[in-house]
Amino acid sequence: MVERGLHVCSSVIASQLDVHARYGGVVPELASREHLRAIVPVVRQALVDARTNYSELSAIAVTSGPGLVGSLLVGVTYAKALCLATGLPLIGVNHVEGHIHSVLIENHGVQFPALALVVSGGHTHLFSVEQLGSYKLLGKTRDDAAGEAYDKVAKLLGFGYPGGPVLDQLASFGNPDAVKFKPVRIRGSELDFSFSGLKTAVLRWTENSDIAAEIEGRKQNTNRSLEGWLRVTPQRTLDLIASFQKTVVEELLRRALLSADQIGAESILITGGVAANRGLRAAAAQTNGFQFYFPSNHLATDNAAMIAAAAFPKWERGDFAGFDLKPQAGLVLA
Ligand code: KG4
Ligand code: ZN
Repeated sequence: MVERGLHVCSSVIASQLDVHARYGGVVPELASREHLRAIVPVVRQALVDARTNYSELSAIAVTSGPGLVGSLLVGVTYAKALCLATGLPLIGVNHVEGHIHSVLIENHGVQFPALALVVSGGHTHLFSVEQLGSYKLLGKTRDDAAGEAYDKVAKLLGFGYPGGPVLDQLASFGNPDAVKFKPVRIRGSELDFSFSGLKTAVLRWTENSDIAAEIEGRKQNTNRSLEGWLRVTPQRTLDLIASFQKTVVEELLRRALLSADQIGAESILITGGVAANRGLRAAAAQTNGFQFYFPSNHLATDNAAMIAAAAFPKWERGDFAGFDLKPQAGLVLA
């Protein structure tokens, strides 16, 4: 529950990571089933935590896309039912717009135009944000999202899913200049990203390094703490991880800075699950000329507070959805 787009009264997250971890990635059918299981208790808990009830709310916001259609359907259907029962207006929110608002919840003085880099397991998108509610897509990944690249590299190295947080932690123990990856070249827009070549380069490195037994050892590892991972990860693999992280961070920042220059932005908002990355935050902190904004870690990964925050300007404009609101897996932010 969020007040006036700025104050988080409660934020309840039902993580499904354990369910999907066994399969090495998100299984769509399991995701919708878990949403169905969690949605009623999560909403109830959000009201309890905020010490409120439906009579004190002004509207109910829901993600209408983009995303997995089964999961979106659970949210949209439940939100409609709540609106019918309570008489509250319904607001449909784009998940990506929610990520952008996650930064604005905690930072009230952001200057526009701003450049937003939304970087998660499903997105690596650059947007020009002229002002709130006015977005222009400047560039995006041609293949894997950055978070997806982290997850795939972690999986092929035997770390399991999701890989971002583990690789990020381990990267600080390696030499980022040990493995040189070729710079990514993309035909066409210089603001588009590509991470699949980097993932393939890591795969080649593992093949050439003869580390099948080491990878198998990690797959069997049950101590998933930092110490546990360090025990089964030799220095040369830590060096590879640090070099991978350095390359991803450089790619992300290079294009973010280029596009911020092009649109005359003063602020750069970095958001989405990968915004929690310590290497990315450290590199941004060393970059002059722009004011960088990141959400706190609990607002960087998927959460409902960012959706409620993004709904507030729509509520002010009376931009409500009808009961014909449909989930849109490929909803585009524009
Ligand atoms: O935004 P999010 O919670 O869900 C999506 O909309 O995808 O992002 C999850 C993604 C995963 O791919 C995860 O590996 C990545 O964000 N991630 C990270 C870190 N924390 C989460 N990637 C790199 N470094 C991190 N610290
Ligand atoms: Zn997300």
